[in-house]
Amino acid sequence: MLAAVLSSVLAGVLVLLVYQGVAYPFFWADLTYYLQLRRYKRTVQARVRRGVLTYLDCFLQQARRTPAKPFIIFESRTLTYQDVDRRSNRFARALGAGGSPEQGDIVALLMCNEPDFVCAWLGLCKLGCEVAFLNVNVKAKSLLHCLRSCGARTLVVGADLVHLVKEVLPDLKQDNVDVWVVDHTSEEFNTLLDKVDNVSGDTLDNIPKVNVMSNFLLIFTSGTTGLPKAARVGHLKAIGSMAFFDMCGATSDDIIYITLPLYHMSASLLGIGGCIHLGATCVLRKKFSASQFWKDCLKHNVTVVQYIGELCRYLLNQPTVPEERAHCVWLAAGSGLRSDIWKKFLTRFGIRAIREGYGLTETSIGFLNYTDEVGPIGRASYFNKLSIPFELLRCDPQTYEPVRTNSGRCVRAQKGEVGILVTPVTTVNQFLGYAGNKVESEKKLLRDVFKVGDTYFNTGDLLLCDHRDFLYFRDRIGDTFRWKGENVSTTEVSEVLGLLDFIQEANVYGVSVPGYEGRAGMSAIVLKQDLELDGKKLYEHLLNTLPLYAWPRFLRIQTCVDVTETFKQQKLKLVREGFDPDVTHDPLFFLDVSQKDYIPLTSVLYQDIVSAKTNL
Ligand SMILES: *[C@@H]1O[C@H](CO)[C@@H](O)[C@H](O)[C@H]1NC(C)=O
Ligand SMILES: *[C@@H]1O[C@H](CO)[C@@H](O)[C@H](O)[C@H]1NC(C)=O
Ligand SMILES: *[C@@H]1O[C@H](CO)[C@@H](O)[C@H](O)[C@H]1NC(C)=O
Ligand SMILES: *[C@@H]1O[C@H](CO)[C@@H](O)[C@H](O)[C@H]1NC(C)=O
Repeated sequence: MLAAVLSSVLAGVLVLLVYQGVAYPFFWADLTYYLQLRRYKRTVQARVRRGVLTYLDCFLQQARRTPAKPFIIFESRTLTYQDVDRRSNRFARALGAGGSPEQGDIVALLMCNEPDFVCAWLGLCKLGCEVAFLNVNVKAKSLLHCLRSCGARTLVVGADLVHLVKEVLPDLKQDNVDVWVVDHTSEEFNTLLDKVDNVSGDTLDNIPKVNVMSNFLLIFTSGTTGLPKAARVGHLKAIGSMAFFDMCGATSDDIIYITLPLYHMSASLLGIGGCIHLGATCVLRKKFSASQFWKDCLKHNVTVVQYIGELCRYLLNQPTVPEERAHCVWLAAGSGLRSDIWKKFLTRFGIRAIREGYGLTETSIGFLNYTDEVGPIGRASYFNKLSIPFELLRCDPQTYEPVRTNSGRCVRAQKGEVGILVTPVTTVNQFLGYAGNKVESEKKLLRDVFKVGDTYFNTGDLLLCDHRDFLYFRDRIGDTFRWKGENVSTTEVSEVLGLLDFIQEANVYGVSVPGYEGRAGMSAIVLKQDLELDGKKLYEHLLNTLPLYAWPRFLRIQTCVDVTETFKQQKLKLVREGFDPDVTHDPLFFLDVSQKDYIPLTSVLYQDIVSAKTNL
């Protein structure tokens, strides 16, 4: 009797499992991920009960728990959690000594990757300042714009970047910006390190309390248009980001290799923050180097590496070295890895797992690929939507504006249809906007989406959700493209090109080049009447105005600019035609950096570029 009951129960369970396998094959993966997110949420809640609310609080807690544990390994130095805590106390004392900056001030930080980036940052947090990270590729003119737009009155600059500041010194003086150089001596500027060496590293007894709903950091992004914008990053978002490596399955025993720039959210919040949350060790490198990558991993017993897609491709383009298989890296975590190199990356370098995620600086939306599918960036499962609400909206294929019904409401994209990713703005899913830029902040918001009065953040990213609920990244719309891991703003580049006396109009866009992630810059140019293209002058101009990743690598000379019916510059057709001299009769040019000039793009040169004989 019992046996009969048991066997029918077993049969029932089996039938259910088979049914689940067919109808909901990703049920367990979805549930596990959901439970992981829940577990992290509970960890955060438990911390909150102990008064550990912010990124800084988490760091201090970790420094108390594991003071002697190595936190940052950089070149030949190792700093423990306690070392970084004490050194950041010194930074706080040295900076705070003169009464400025003080609590609530915005302080801009312009530094390359080094342990003092973290010490200065945490020191400023201890003073209650809001830190604005500046991109170290910034040019002088842009630097002023960044400082003004975020309202920073203090600038902390690394010793190796002082030349950038010198160029705009008169303007900085006029704006009353205090400049501190992270160095022992300097002829022109206040220096920090001599003072840091001269003050105590003991615990500060008056760390200001912060409001967790307030702003923590400013991170400059080249969003969709114009010059870089300072995205406000709230404390909640920073705390959420610290879960990254934990969600990927890493533990406190892992040694995490970070080569991405710290002024980006990925390295500072997901990377360093992820280490702090786990109490793990981070091997920090000043700059990514493809040839040193596996050597470093082997030397420091690295177990986890953080990537952006481009980085993986550079590694695959390197000649084989023995270290690439001798290391003990088991996990690569990051974003922007294309499916065409995914498998190659795993097999060639003998890595067990890749965790591909998607995230934005401006809001909390994020996905993580936690199944064994190649291609998707995440899932739109029932469970996922419980933790991270989002929607895909149907949009107009020409303007990329969401389609509205007669009653003014938006429409959800169907399965298999590309839609714009939007996420509801709520108290926990904040969008704090861009500092000093109300207009741009408002532009990112969609109102009255499904009902009157609701508000959504428009990510500007096109995603597709298939019938199995997998999400695929399709494109970033608007006026940016990605190249070498950076967003390039087409408006900014066109404005810069327009300053040259022989250019009447420039239409900038990005083109795909086989073998490269993202898109390389290209500009269709209309020359002023009777004037010619002066490639050398253009090169010099770019050198002085734009970071290398934003330079147009290809030019297309047109007699008039293509415009849409609404007189916007027509880009789609140009993007499709690319830089193939057999597709257009317009004269094409290629930037030859060694000659510091633009040279005619012939069919032979075209072949060399697409077959990677000529490098970009
Ligand atoms: C270091 O501290 C001493 C005593 O507190 C002071 O006299 C000296 O000027 C300080 N030096 C620097 C470089 O600040
Ligand atoms: C690129 O733009 C997106 C969307 O505005 C932003 O979230 C991201 O942080 C930007 N990335 C960089 C490297 O500026
Ligand atoms: C790496 O691991 C090996 C074997 O466990 C050990 O002998 C070596 O000292 C480690 N190296 C470092 C830099 O920790
Ligand atoms: C997702 O991760 C798995 C490993 O867990 C990997 O095999 C798969 O290719 C990934 N898919 C993508 C591209 O998201």
